[in-house]
Amino acid sequence: MKRPHAMACAAFILGTPAWAQITLPDGPGKELVSKNCGTCHAMSRVTEAGYTAEEWRNSIHMMKNVGATVQAGEIDAMVAYLAKNFPAKPRPAAVVVPGDARVSIREWFVPTAGSRPHDPLPTADGALWYTGQFSNVRKLNPATGAVTEYAMPDPAARDPHTPIFDRDGILWFTVQAGNFVGRLDPKSGEVKLVPSPTPRSRPYGILVNLKNVPFWVEFGSNKVASIDRDTMAIREYALPDPASRPRRIAITPDDAVWYTDYARGYLGRLNPATGLVDEWPSPGGPKSQPYGMLADGEVIWYSESGVKPNTLVRFDPRTQRFQSWIIPSGGGVVRHMVRAPDGKFALALSGVNGVALVEKQ
Ligand code: HEC
Repeated sequence: MKRPHAMACAAFILGTPAWAQITLPDGPGKELVSKNCGTCHAMSRVTEAGYTAEEWRNSIHMMKNVGATVQAGEIDAMVAYLAKNFPAKPRPAAVVVPGDARVSIREWFVPTAGSRPHDPLPTADGALWYTGQFSNVRKLNPATGAVTEYAMPDPAARDPHTPIFDRDGILWFTVQAGNFVGRLDPKSGEVKLVPSPTPRSRPYGILVNLKNVPFWVEFGSNKVASIDRDTMAIREYALPDPASRPRRIAITPDDAVWYTDYARGYLGRLNPATGLVDEWPSPGGPKSQPYGMLADGEVIWYSESGVKPNTLVRFDPRTQRFQSWIIPSGGGVVRHMVRAPDGKFALALSGVNGVALVEKQ
């Protein structure tokens, strides 16, 4: 699992020329942080973060999982130093909107520290698969709580993001850092990559609509895009506000494309046939950072990752009403939500190192 991260490191160094200029505040633990934390990415990546002690501990474990050579005996001093000098930034409070829908939220915490669960994939047998972005691929069986480890299949696994199968069994994925969209034919093993027309557009959430057309959102721009499966030609749809940064995508049975606008705190809907866009401000406000989302029939569910604690939000397009709930563990940034075959929703709780299942009642 070292290779994908080596790529990520290279991207950081190239993208951050000012990294030598950061001066860390004095205090116990400073030497350990300078020694361990400035080699792969700019130290600004550390100094611009703001976490609680618990979150810093998780962050250090994530860094160990991608190759940082931190000794076990160094961790406590680093956590204390980081939490003192780069404490959690103030976050807007969660806004709970009451309503008629009822849900139960169950959470599990995964055994490998700092694995950063990113993309959950519930399957028909009741198991919950997820990609541990910072460690490995794993499988959780909610019935028993048992977790199995699986190695990533190597050649296809170099920095894939959010893989999704289409109706012909082709696997489509976005490559955020490389600015690509790709397809993998599992039968032949053939992989095709197409560059996104917009530079640094950071292709992110991807889904296939009912007509088997892959759609994704560009987190580095204000665009939604689709691809012609035969010609691999990409079509981009610009969202009305240039400041939009759509991060995740959901598609309703009418083939409307929904997105969470992470930068502006909006929920949006694009009609690809007409190009028309509708937007609704998320209940938690402009800094609520709507992120992981899914469509449950016509109803949209998503999470606000910028409010504390994170919320689960429901939006019914028929009534145009929101409802929201607090995620008990705080959520720690719900990067992805997936609907299981049995109708439950699986959530990756990346910052608190867990996964959750949401059941409607
Ligand atoms: C072996 C390489 C490596 C080392 C050493 C390293 N990091 Fe990182 N770090 C990464 C990579 C890769 C990412 C990018 C993760 C992403 O956002 O995809 C990252 C991202 C981060 C982030 C942003 C996390 C987020 O959720 O977006 C923080 C904070 C951070 N590192 C802190 C540290 C600290 C503290 C140390 C010292 C213990 C450290 N890093 C050492 C590879 C490294």
